[in-house]
Amino acid sequence: MDRKDFIKNCGFACMGSAAITALLQSCATTKIMSGKITGDDLIVPLSDFETKAGNEKHYKKYVVVQNDILQYPICVYRINENEYTALWMQCTHQGAELQVFGDKLQCPAHGSEFTNIGAVQSGPADKKLRTFPVTIEANQLKISLKAL
Ligand code: FES
Repeated sequence: MDRKDFIKNCGFACMGSAAITALLQSCATTKIMSGKITGDDLIVPLSDFETKAGNEKHYKKYVVVQNDILQYPICVYRINENEYTALWMQCTHQGAELQVFGDKLQCPAHGSEFTNIGAVQSGPADKKLRTFPVTIEANQLKISLKAL
């Protein structure tokens, strides 16, 4: 192997290990919950966002909620203690299911990206994500699915 091939192969190896690391990190932080539907509401306990490290309580940025009657999952972001967003994980470009990476959702089909409030960050999608009203009641989030 000459020097040029060696450098080229090392470059591909580095890119591969960086991609695997990013994939593992995203898998480690993504937690998919099974949500209960009561009436028109999808119920998500606030405790689903909690993690503990020793005596300290921490909060996940988001949880992904699924239910058998939902065609797509819903990503629920914790913006702060009193503010959450519920985003339909269907790309507004051609309908592919989105993937969550930290504070944004990405489309595996053509690369559109959306923020944690559903705004388009990069196209080709040009419409914001469908969102659902969220209320907090008795330590639970009630995500209204009336519009579905
Ligand atoms: S379907 Fe998502 S970018 Fe095309």
